[in-house]
Amino acid sequence: MAKRVLTTESGAPVADNQNSATAGVGGPILLQDQHLLEKLARFNRERIPERVVHARGSGAYGYFEVTDDVTGFTRADFLSAVGKRTETFLRFSTVADSLGGADAVRDPRGFALKFYTDEGNYDLVGNNTPVFFIKDPIKFPDFIHSQKRDPFTGKQEPDNVWDFWAHAPEATHQITWLMGDRGIPASYRHMNGYGSHTYQWTNAEGEAFFVKYHFKTNQGVRSLSAEQAAELVGKDANSHQTDLLQAIERGVNPSWTLYVQVMPAAEAADYRFNPFDLTKVWPHADYPLQRVGRLVLDRNPDNVFAEVEQAAFSPNNFVPGIGPSPDKMLQGRLFAYADAHRYRLGVNHTQLPVNAPRTAVVDNYGRDGLHATRNGSRHDKNYEPNSYAGPAQTDAALAAPLAIHGWTGTHEAPAHAKDDDFFQAGELYRLMSEDEKGRLVANIAGGLSQVTRDDVIEKNLAHFHAADADYGKRVEKAVRALRED
Ligand code: HEM
Repeated sequence: MAKRVLTTESGAPVADNQNSATAGVGGPILLQDQHLLEKLARFNRERIPERVVHARGSGAYGYFEVTDDVTGFTRADFLSAVGKRTETFLRFSTVADSLGGADAVRDPRGFALKFYTDEGNYDLVGNNTPVFFIKDPIKFPDFIHSQKRDPFTGKQEPDNVWDFWAHAPEATHQITWLMGDRGIPASYRHMNGYGSHTYQWTNAEGEAFFVKYHFKTNQGVRSLSAEQAAELVGKDANSHQTDLLQAIERGVNPSWTLYVQVMPAAEAADYRFNPFDLTKVWPHADYPLQRVGRLVLDRNPDNVFAEVEQAAFSPNNFVPGIGPSPDKMLQGRLFAYADAHRYRLGVNHTQLPVNAPRTAVVDNYGRDGLHATRNGSRHDKNYEPNSYAGPAQTDAALAAPLAIHGWTGTHEAPAHAKDDDFFQAGELYRLMSEDEKGRLVANIAGGLSQVTRDDVIEKNLAHFHAADADYGKRVEKAVRALRED
């Protein structure tokens, strides 16, 4: 085999990669040592900004295979036939901590999935929880500030975490979920994924449905107790990465079964609570799970930076037959992600291999910008309409229209008959076994009791009381006991 030659970035051979050039033996370094200058300068630029949330993550490639006919609900091509396979990339993540954090912590997990479909990439950017802490995107930056490291102390502060929650009664359901047994997954393989939001599907006849996605892990749900997690973090801060990487390298390919809940669009207006409220689940008794297909992860990326760090998911990447619902959180996210990518990766992030479509062909009039690699040829016009047979619109609506009425203004989402912030937190609590309730109460009390202000503690206690009398009583007792210690 021919010996490979080390080169500079411009391809010239490197004579010496061990000794920099100096003015005489023992003299100062020469500015003309191009290889040294380039090497040091490149090294200085290896890092890009970390994601403002979900900074720590692990990714893998795989495929999605349709197992059941859902063409009655959507005309999405990648779901159009049983047996159809679509290549995917999935990035899992923790949410609150920075890149230097640990995996086995109490935190939701991201479940961001890219389907490389024949009609363009479809990004479903979900979590391992079916609900979220807030229901209006205008609160998101404040929420995240309160959960991430404090700008003065440089660490997460129970005072900030619980002060935000004291002012966000709608978070009670998600807090109950997070502080319960599923709050620390044993690994990325042992947790479910949820689209969380309500999305809209449109079938070939133009009929609209609202859907919620559930990816159920076929490995079984496994979680860690707070004590097990603390021990594991000390042994391997990258425990989730280790587990996923090694499983796939061994050929033990993790898989999930996708189910959807489907609501005919006409039922949304009179449903007993707002079906677009991200802090609530739809009871399965109302809308049962219907199986769609199987997601399998079978290939590790070759390079974590190129493929995991540079992966860019945007909830506004839809394909024909799938679109947004009026969920205000989702609407906010339709803006936030691509904007984040333009800052973090640049305007041409969609041209990076992990983000570029695989089978769909990109053909448009977007040009130029930093690091553009796809700029058309001398035969391609950069304006439209044109007389040169350039790409043209299809005139086929991507999703069914939504009926809108009312006045502009800063409105709360419309209240339905049964809309309150607490009843589903209470229902979740009452579903738990006695042992589970005990662990939930201990986890909440462990955090809440560290808060320095009594009024913040009282406001939070009121939320647990409102969810369920027993729940409130037990949290209150546990918090008071810890504070008297
Ligand atoms: C209005 C609410 C939200 C806003 C403004 C928001 C914004 C963001 C931003 C800016 C990022 C970083 C993107 C990047 O730099 O690559 C991000 C990442 C992420 N968010 Fe959200 N987010 C919101 C709510 C949610 C919700 C409700 C979910 C789940 C249901 C979610 C799941 C994720 C995931 C999984 C990632 C990581 C994606 C990846 O692996 O690259 N976010 N979010």
